[in-house]
Amino acid sequence: MRHKILFVCLGNICRSPLAEGILRNKALDHGLDIEVDSCGTAGYHIGEQPDPRSIAKAKEYGIDISMLRGRKFSKSDFDTFDRILVMDKSNYADVIDLAKDSNHQSKVEMVLNIGQKSNYLNVPDPYYGGEEGFQEVYDLLDKACDLIIEQCKHGNI
Ligand code: 4NP
Repeated sequence: MRHKILFVCLGNICRSPLAEGILRNKALDHGLDIEVDSCGTAGYHIGEQPDPRSIAKAKEYGIDISMLRGRKFSKSDFDTFDRILVMDKSNYADVIDLAKDSNHQSKVEMVLNIGQKSNYLNVPDPYYGGEEGFQEVYDLLDKACDLIIEQCKHGNI
């Protein structure tokens, strides 16, 4: 079965493109068929490359995300994807607002809730901070993507 996973943040230039690159790389390593994409709830950076700090952080780990381009979340994403993994509570509220029914709502999860009961932790927005924020984001997303891979392997999503 092909898994279709969409990561969502605000601008689609810092957190969600990094998540997209990390999960795509892990899926390749594990021979898993996962369609991965990312987008933002805002349209500020449509058509733009990821933030240079996200590109550099991914590159440190051998992941190329320089070809990704920003796009905005669309209602049709609810039909295209099985799981819509958001970075923070504000993304969650914005995406849930666009859901037309409980099936669509049920696809939306906070990425750091994976493998947890419900701790509702945010992946902090690193845009206005320093370089160290990007390492923290990378580490959080790397762990979350390991859990996603385990779930895909065992078919429990
Ligand atoms: P992201 O970070 O949501 O992780 O892509 C941001 C990028 C841009 C802005 C905010 C957050 N912005 O306000 O332009």
